[in-house]
Amino acid sequence: MILMKNYISIKDQVDIVNICEKWGVGPGGFYQPSHENGAKLRLQMMCFGRNWDPVTKYKKRCRSDGSEALPLPHELISLTETTLQDARAHLQKLPSMCPDICIVNFYPPVYGRLGLHQDCDESNDSLRRGLPVVSISIGDTAEFLYGRTRDKYKAESVLLKSGDVLIFGGKSRLVFHGVKQVLPNTAPLELLQETALRPGRLNLTLRQF
Ligand code: SIN
Ligand code: MN
Repeated sequence: MILMKNYISIKDQVDIVNICEKWGVGPGGFYQPSHENGAKLRLQMMCFGRNWDPVTKYKKRCRSDGSEALPLPHELISLTETTLQDARAHLQKLPSMCPDICIVNFYPPVYGRLGLHQDCDESNDSLRRGLPVVSISIGDTAEFLYGRTRDKYKAESVLLKSGDVLIFGGKSRLVFHGVKQVLPNTAPLELLQETALRPGRLNLTLRQF
């Protein structure tokens, strides 16, 4: 697991917000998904590359509203590849991966959260090889939890700020993780001035199916 603090420049953060804004409104854009029991997740989500949702996982090509997954923007593919190259300077054995999925979450401050879970719906091959998940944080700061089990009292906590990138691959690929809270009014002023980002936090996780 590697945390690259303040890795994404404000310019690239602005570009990412604009990409999410461009695709996030309309068919295939942000919606509030539900768990199997009908409870809503406390976030808005959209997917690039392949649709994922908490009930059907990656099994359905189309969402319940009939929309297909949006194409994965090439800017996000190249950013992921550069990030992994840079991360390898710290951890040589980090496996490489070619992202074909990006799940974008938007958490409004205070209400937004995500319970501890594992990212284990990608292909057996991807999981077996420990192909990393590259997780980009933009906007308000999150208190992020991670640990070996689903027990939130045993989890470690770290603040993820705008521009931070967390990578979990290899032995950490199946780490339990979640978002305890999003701290209001913590996004960089410059980002707010240069985009239409609402109060809250965007998180993009890039993965190889
Ligand atoms: C996720 O686990 O899918 C998102 C994590 C985050 O928002 O940092
Ligand atoms: Mn996850």
